[in-house]
Amino acid sequence: MKQPTDESAYEGAALRGRNALITGASRGIGLAIARRFAAEGAAVVLCASRLGAHGKLKGTLQEAVDEINAAGGSAAAEVCDLSDHEARAQLVERAGRHFGPLDIVVNNAAASTMQLPSQVTREQRNFMYEVNLNAPIDLAQQVLPAMRKRGSGWILNISSASARQPVVPYRDSQIAAHVITAYGATKAALDRYTQGLAHEVAGDGVCINTLAPESIVLTEGASYVRDIARRSPDMAEPVETMAEAALALCSGRHIGQVCFSRQLLHALGRPVFSLDGQERLGDAFLPADVEATA
Ligand SMILES: NC(=O)c1ccc[n+]([C@@H]2O[C@H](COP(=O)([O-])OP(=O)(O)OC[C@H]3O[C@@H](n4cnc5c(N)ncnc54)[C@H](OP(=O)(O)O)[C@@H]3O)[C@@H](O)[C@H]2O)c1
Repeated sequence: MKQPTDESAYEGAALRGRNALITGASRGIGLAIARRFAAEGAAVVLCASRLGAHGKLKGTLQEAVDEINAAGGSAAAEVCDLSDHEARAQLVERAGRHFGPLDIVVNNAAASTMQLPSQVTREQRNFMYEVNLNAPIDLAQQVLPAMRKRGSGWILNISSASARQPVVPYRDSQIAAHVITAYGATKAALDRYTQGLAHEVAGDGVCINTLAPESIVLTEGASYVRDIARRSPDMAEPVETMAEAALALCSGRHIGQVCFSRQLLHALGRPVFSLDGQERLGDAFLPADVEATA
């Protein structure tokens, strides 16, 4: 990677020699984490359900991989539909063929169907539970034996503040607060599972945690909440805070944490860097550009 211009802003290659798999990395938070990890020296395998475009959404898996390699990093693509248990059964093994056995797995891909809890169908629920809960469990079970044998590894599951019931004002946002329930329930299950798994394997040197944005990150997948962010800019955080917090959890010794990006960074007194690691952007409460899309 290109050397940083400002020595004082650079914290070093925290992930040099490490291999990471990041799911849902063709855009948004997953791509930001992949870029930040690559800037710290990790070889990164980026996974999404397709190599090319997903409808009108900007950003493809191929472009994401090309971008990291062009910046001097090491990246490869793995196409896998994580809603399909057979397709994901060999994902860790396939990902390990690119650069070597995985040291880090970030389960970031997620599916969300916004539907009232009284109406969400079995098909919609099953789909969300497959991508948001069963896929992270399967990938963890695939990678854990080697990590435990080695006595080291990091698994990070990306969760959501919607795992908890938001304060429902029963005014303008009541629909938004209700339709996120089923998705939030999958994330609540992910939080609970992650804590239990983390404590089971803590003695084997494997660090497992969940991390969520405190509120909104304006990605392609979350662009429908841009109006909320415009009305209340404090409701949005930049994608860099998630990437920095993910780096902290995938290089440190945290175990069984269910935490929010800003709170974690604030508690650690850790500054936020640009995704290429070159620039110190600010502290945990760095404001988001509500017109930009991650
Ligand atoms: N953005 C927010 O405000 C926010 C808030 C709370 C929590 N989160 C969590 O943060 C994570 C990332 O969110 P985001 O906003 O960055 O999402 P996003 O912009 O919608 O991107 C989702 C990523 O997941 C991939 N993906 C979706 N379904 C998949 C499947 N079945 N198999 C494989 N890959 C799949 C997508 O690629 P393809 O479409 O090409 O497959 C894409 O790379 C998620 O876990 C989400 O729940 C986000």
